[in-house]
Amino acid sequence: MLMKKTLKSFTEQIDEAARIIKSGGVIAFPTETVYGLGANAFDREAVNKIFAIKKRPQDNPLIVHIAKIEDLPKIVDDIPPISLKLAKHFWPGPLSIIFPKKKIIPDIVSAGLSTIAVRIPDNAVAIELIKKSGVPIAAPSANISGKPSATHHKHVLDQLGSRVDMIIEAGQCKIGLESTVINTLTNPPTILRLGGLSTDEIEEIIGKVNTSEKKDSKPLSPGMKYKHYAPMGKVILLAMPNEYSKMTVNEICKYFRNKVLETIEHKAQGAKNVGIITTDRNKNSFPGKYFVFSLGNRNRSTEIASNLFKALNKMDEKGIETIIIESFPKIGLLAGVMERLERSSAK
Ligand code: TXA
Ligand code: MG
Repeated sequence: MLMKKTLKSFTEQIDEAARIIKSGGVIAFPTETVYGLGANAFDREAVNKIFAIKKRPQDNPLIVHIAKIEDLPKIVDDIPPISLKLAKHFWPGPLSIIFPKKKIIPDIVSAGLSTIAVRIPDNAVAIELIKKSGVPIAAPSANISGKPSATHHKHVLDQLGSRVDMIIEAGQCKIGLESTVINTLTNPPTILRLGGLSTDEIEEIIGKVNTSEKKDSKPLSPGMKYKHYAPMGKVILLAMPNEYSKMTVNEICKYFRNKVLETIEHKAQGAKNVGIITTDRNKNSFPGKYFVFSLGNRNRSTEIASNLFKALNKMDEKGIETIIIESFPKIGLLAGVMERLERSSAK
């Protein structure tokens, strides 16, 4: 019975959201990665509202979400074989692929670029919403620009509240990291943003890709030049121990436990409202006046990734002023986690 009620309420929410999309409004909807702030991708005015609501710089393009691969030719001019191979393999899923844009997609969506990023999300509510809206949905992450992304409808409510026409309440996102963005128009293809799909998983399908983003050079993706994922408090990201590859997980946890205590004593001395983002083994090591949040088991990268934005949003909810965070090796999904942590701690 409960199941039936839940399903019905989803259907009602999706119907209402689709009506809003069709009439030029902006809604927040769940995907498997993070919540998106969506509007009709064909409607210039509607897309313009997205930029205003999240205070997004106009030169940062949006991702266009479709429900089935057959809809791709309606919005892109060319589908290179390598892109089709990736799409067929990973869609629906956390991979956004860059294509040459068709004129029917207004320039505001691509921030004036001749290309657009497209993906099919792996989330039943999102797919149903796109189908019922009858149009592709342009959507960035549903957060204020520069703030941590929203992985639960409560985060959207906290950050955007009444500024959006509707928020679909679908609870927690499964993956919790944004999609990986890849440009297959370069040879070799280039990963523009690390995310929910690891470089290894992509290379297994299409061979070597380029991931290096040289410091000081023009950012590969417009979105990568902005400060990102930053909670209100000051973030102190602790470095991995030099010898971590020779250490056991236990030793690494012990190392971080000491580093956190040392940091509280020195760098965060006298700071009020200290928050600690740690992992399971250390979660009971800092009793008392600190707000401790565990990202989960250090051995389970999917767990760590899915809790990352929850942790950062929680720090804001609690009004934490200084946040001390453990690091992870830049391997697989954790490379995406570290990219976000490094940017959240950037000055
Ligand atoms: O998982 C996700 O990707 C989520 C959900 C809602 O789908 N969306 C998301 O969108 O994270 P956003 O706007 O926060 O990030 C999109 C990224 C930005 O870094 C943007 O610069 C890049 O994709 N991007 C979009 N279109 C591009 C293009 N044509 N060329 C290069 N980069 C592009
Ligand atoms: Mg974003």
